[in-house]
Amino acid sequence: MAPRCLVIQVVACDTTEAACKAYLAADARADVVELRWDLVRDLDADRLLRLKGKPKLITVRSRQQGGAARPAEREPLLRKALAAGVDYVDLEFGDRDLAFVKQRGRTRRILSYHDFNGTPADLLALHGEMRAAAPGALPKIVTLADAASDILRVRDLLRSAGPGALISFCMGPKGVPSRILAPSWGSAAVYAPSRGAAASAPGQVSLEDLFELYRAHRIGPRTRLLGVLGYPIGHSLSPRVHNAALAALGLDFCYLPFEATRLAEFLPLLSELRLKGLSVTLPHKEAIARHLDGLDETSRGVGAVNTVVKIWNRLEGRNTDVEAALAPLALRTALKGARVAVLGAGGAARALVFGLVRAGARVTVFNRTRAHARVLARRFGVRHLPWSRLRRFPCDVLINATSVGLAPDIDSVPVPVSWVVAPIVYDIVYNPVETRWLREARDRGRQTLGGLEMFLAQAAAQFAMFTDRPAPVDVMRETALKALGSSPLERPAAVRHPPRRPATRRRKR
Ligand code: ATR
Repeated sequence: MAPRCLVIQVVACDTTEAACKAYLAADARADVVELRWDLVRDLDADRLLRLKGKPKLITVRSRQQGGAARPAEREPLLRKALAAGVDYVDLEFGDRDLAFVKQRGRTRRILSYHDFNGTPADLLALHGEMRAAAPGALPKIVTLADAASDILRVRDLLRSAGPGALISFCMGPKGVPSRILAPSWGSAAVYAPSRGAAASAPGQVSLEDLFELYRAHRIGPRTRLLGVLGYPIGHSLSPRVHNAALAALGLDFCYLPFEATRLAEFLPLLSELRLKGLSVTLPHKEAIARHLDGLDETSRGVGAVNTVVKIWNRLEGRNTDVEAALAPLALRTALKGARVAVLGAGGAARALVFGLVRAGARVTVFNRTRAHARVLARRFGVRHLPWSRLRRFPCDVLINATSVGLAPDIDSVPVPVSWVVAPIVYDIVYNPVETRWLREARDRGRQTLGGLEMFLAQAAAQFAMFTDRPAPVDVMRETALKALGSSPLERPAAVRHPPRRPATRRRKR
């Protein structure tokens, strides 16, 4: 962590017993433990004060302040903490708490301002007022990132305050990058609960993830930043997979999750954070193209960008989905002349159909909403048929490019397996690693191919573009399987098979 940045482990337990246990089990990397007294229902403050261990920060927030304490309980508890000489107390910026700020004693006072609804317009003025009201206290300004670009305002505020003079970051999913970058921007502290422990504010990153996943303690002025842009982004595997690969190669990069509902709210971050590269996912894959300096042939052809790389200050749009979707399949069968049925007409289907046509396959599109199938089929000059024609539709490969079967909807199948005659069945869903549809197809003797290899191949291609190094694909696979709750031993077999010709041709000979 940056030298002047305290790591504050948040303990937000609802019983004294649990809070004592969590305090005593505090992570060795934490400098201070925050005890949220307001959240403990059977609070035995004396017992918690007697515990020996890490320096304590006592926080008692009222309901109006985003906590759970009744106003009448709050002040006596703060008085008790100060009388006991705890290391830190958290006070709220406002008239009433200023009396505690002025009280003598060894306790360091953190003067907090929270905005759970947004980021106020004039942060500098707010900071100035806080400093004037309590010159001896450590100010803390924490706001909700309403727009992804709010984190830049917090960065600028931290820079103007100087290292170690202010605690600041943004809450909420859009604020996550600020929690990871705040130490490098000069924040005097970061707050993080232990993994699996109760969170006390939206968008918190666990202490383990801060150190092990994002390696926030190592982020410095030379660290190159990467990330994934999408909405929602909380469940994306990409930060885990890319950061594990970066760490395995010892590269000074950090890959962040950027959530943005509208593209416009994210665009300032591209240049302001000097991002070296970006993975782009739903719903921004199409719209981002207009904001780039150039597009490669594949992203132009598909009409979607899943990768942005900065090359000599130019932002280049690329698409690694197409190659990634087809490479595992091409290891199983020759694509030229193969009869391929594609289920779905969304973004994934578009990348597949573009790639299949380019490889010389004969493609038929099926989609629940026929109008969408028609648009896709027209764009790439392939045929489309009604869903009902899927029953025993003769083809060499059947691909599910819909979201049917994706967790948590793991019991659904796109079409009954009894309808499937294709010898090769490919499901681009990778969570679960083996969908019910694939499992049933495998039980019926079909060759199956899951979506994880595609996910890994697109990520590996991006990694190489971002870092100019070949991706450690095994590290990526193990990380993805671990995150998906599967054993790394259950590897999809795709890459071990030599290429095979389409089944129909074999039958004809
Ligand atoms: P992606 O970019 O991942 O492909 P998408 O653009 O939202 O995501 O596309 C989702 C695809 O899954 C669409 O083809 C959708 O069909 P519609 O065009 O009819 O919406 C398909 N899909 C989603 N749920 C489905 C379901 N229950 N049955 C059949 N198709 C479904």
